[in-house]
Amino acid sequence: MQLKNKSALITGGGSGVGRAIAEHFAGEGARVAVADIDQEGAEQTVDSIKANGADAFSIAGDVSAPAEVASMIDQAVAKNGGLNIIVNSAAIARVQKFLDITLQDWNEMLAVNLTGVFLCAQAAARHMVKFGGGGRIINISSVNGQRAISGRGAYTVAKGGLEMLTKIMAAELGEWNITVNSIAPAPVDTPMIKKMHTQSTREQWYRVLPIKRYARPEEIAHAAAFLASDNAAYISGHTLNVDGGFNATGLLLDL
Ligand SMILES: NC(=O)c1ccc[n+]([C@@H]2O[C@H](COP(=O)([O-])OP(=O)(O)OC[C@H]3O[C@@H](n4cnc5c(N)ncnc54)[C@H](O)[C@@H]3O)[C@@H](O)[C@H]2O)c1
Repeated sequence: MQLKNKSALITGGGSGVGRAIAEHFAGEGARVAVADIDQEGAEQTVDSIKANGADAFSIAGDVSAPAEVASMIDQAVAKNGGLNIIVNSAAIARVQKFLDITLQDWNEMLAVNLTGVFLCAQAAARHMVKFGGGGRIINISSVNGQRAISGRGAYTVAKGGLEMLTKIMAAELGEWNITVNSIAPAPVDTPMIKKMHTQSTREQWYRVLPIKRYARPEEIAHAAAFLASDNAAYISGHTLNVDGGFNATGLLLDL
């Protein structure tokens, strides 16, 4: 029960990594608000949390729309009596070669995956500061934020921006005892990745992953729970790679 009595808002909580985080946080005693543009997905997460004996509620909203973000934060605060933790997991992904990216694709990707985190984190931090400080902001980044992985141009740039957004927030919010960290997974077996990765893509990843499988969503959730817990009170501005060793590795020789 490392998150007992904490109030947490999880964006993108209707699927994949965000769902696993919402479920795990609820199991650790947090009061969880599950926000997603896909209300049905968010409600399924809430049902699964309730089926395990904890409580949660859903909020429908688009992280890239400022008025909807304001309403998300207000609802989470009102229903849970405050807000201690926000996890920004909502994102979109596309496979596109650099030469094929349209301006519309580029703008949509940055609007959700970077501006969306800015809007949610800023609104959450303003609330935390107003009520005396203390809080956790956890951004779900990606190994794409540190490495240029082909076919992921706009996504990679948005995640790279998210890495710096994490650092600047850590620098400016520390005086209010708000920690800001990101988690950078390599591929995680979620609906997003099941749609995007062919068998051939998977096999190419297995060749460069020291641990020769994709992450399970729960493995990202455990890292997020640690960063949200009292045990991580002095960790801020950090990117926690949960990537099976991918970032540590150069060439994996088949000896
Ligand atoms: N799956 C992976 O391999 C992988 C690897 C590295 C990082 N990530 C990151 O993990 C996070 C979660 O990804 P996932 O694999 O669980 O994806 P997913 O598609 O399963 O879940 C993403 C959720 O975000 C929601 N969402 C999308 N746009 C939104 C918006 N504008 N407003 C609110 N909600 C919105 C979707 O409805 C969905 O429920 C993302 O930030 C992603 O970039 C995923």
